[in-house]
Amino acid sequence: TIFEEAREGAISVAYEIAELIRSKQKKGKRAVLGLATGSSPISVYKELIRLHREEGLSFENVVTFNLDEYYPMQPDELQSYVHFMHEQLFNHVDIRPENIHIPDGTLPIEKVREYCQAYERQIEECGGLDLQLLGIGRTGHIGFNEPGSSITSATRLVKLDPLTITDAAKDFIKEEYVPLRALTMGVGTIMKARKIILMAWGEGKAKILQETVEGRISDEVPASFLQQHPNAKVVVDQWAALEL
Ligand code: GLP
Repeated sequence: TIFEEAREGAISVAYEIAELIRSKQKKGKRAVLGLATGSSPISVYKELIRLHREEGLSFENVVTFNLDEYYPMQPDELQSYVHFMHEQLFNHVDIRPENIHIPDGTLPIEKVREYCQAYERQIEECGGLDLQLLGIGRTGHIGFNEPGSSITSATRLVKLDPLTITDAAKDFIKEEYVPLRALTMGVGTIMKARKIILMAWGEGKAKILQETVEGRISDEVPASFLQQHPNAKVVVDQWAALEL
């Protein structure tokens, strides 16, 4: 779906999430959301906070699993995705702390493998992801699944692409301070979600979006695997859609 302005697109995504939360609530069930960081979802989270404050949208029955976290990373560091998610959403709604899951960037390396397997299991035990929200990196990554990630990849420790490190430098003062690795849900984890919404705003995303939506399905552009998902939607503004 192409919107003229990013704000309109973000509002439509927020409404869709709110609708899912409410319909699950009516059935006495939990809504299991896969959440993303980066600048793209910020306006969606803003609208969800407004819906919570002004229209009584409750997050009491919401369980969340975040896509990724830098490694290593302490939760109280400004650049951590734990910090980001609390600032942008969790601190402002009535979600239960025990329902929030974000990959743990503090683990010793020897515990990572087991932790990642447990993260997958936790998603399964909650009944799987009802909806996965995604942004896209200029390398074509979703989560931190950089080029070369297979369609069946699971939650794991990955190396960041040099372009991703350059793009992240704005948050870390200097490029040298950007962690070289991250924990991320796999493409396979994402593909298991019952519904996927990928958002892209601005001209900077136009080229990779074209490759994602219209290009060959290949691990060179991991987001292109979404073409094979039965219920994936791409929401963009007119600028990100320039090359479609
Ligand atoms: C980071 C995140 C991705 C996100 C990407 C794009 O790399 N790990 O999940 O999609 O940034 O960020 P932005 O939305 O700021 O363009």
